[in-house]
Amino acid sequence: MTDRPAGEIEGGGAVRSGAAGPPGAADILITASQIAQRVEELGSELGHLYRDSVPPPVLVGVLKGSALFLADLIRSLGIDAEVDFMAISSYSASSGQSGVVRIVKDLEGDIVGRDVLLVEDIVDTGLTLTYLRRSLGERRPRSLKTVTLLDKVARRIVPVPVEYRGFEIPDVFVVGYGLDFMGRYRNVPDLYAVRDLARLANDPELLVGPFFGPEPTVRT
Ligand code: IMP
Repeated sequence: MTDRPAGEIEGGGAVRSGAAGPPGAADILITASQIAQRVEELGSELGHLYRDSVPPPVLVGVLKGSALFLADLIRSLGIDAEVDFMAISSYSASSGQSGVVRIVKDLEGDIVGRDVLLVEDIVDTGLTLTYLRRSLGERRPRSLKTVTLLDKVARRIVPVPVEYRGFEIPDVFVVGYGLDFMGRYRNVPDLYAVRDLARLANDPELLVGPFFGPEPTVRT
């Protein structure tokens, strides 16, 4: 163990011996058990924060990446809570549309006067979160806070409040535990750092065999 603060992962990650993944393609960054432990800690902290909320807090998941995190987090709160979802269109920095975010699925419920917890998978440049916080803030919730599983602080281009985070990670592209590359790899239980994104872009199925093998993987 190091004396690193909870939730902070050293840059680069490490290759787990015997880990799935072709040599040179992806390195395990955070294991499923490290994630589970940190989500429990966050759940307990947030459960205390909202224990007196009446009506109960609304957890707003941002589809699709936060689905797994939200599912685990809400079960570790230990208090009554509601769930709603939003989906937004992604933008591409290369399109010159950076920061342009559009809601493609809005909340079903009204959040006026509610304690709202925005649940994100990852905060990268901060543009998406800035947009979402503005949009939700305009709806007059009683409180609005953000919890993100992962925070790439080094990539931030707009300062945005992130009240709770699972792990600070270095500037690497990650897949697994809800995070995808072109829709793939969300259901990989551990979190992996992709070594060569250009290679994966060229062959998006590159990691399918190594992660899942020819037969369905049995996890014990
Ligand atoms: P933003 O740059 O903070 O606006 O983040 C935008 C979105 O990019 C996130 O919500 C993710 O969907 C996606 N994203 C950023 N970094 C990664 C990554 O390392 N893996 C997978 N998706 C990512």
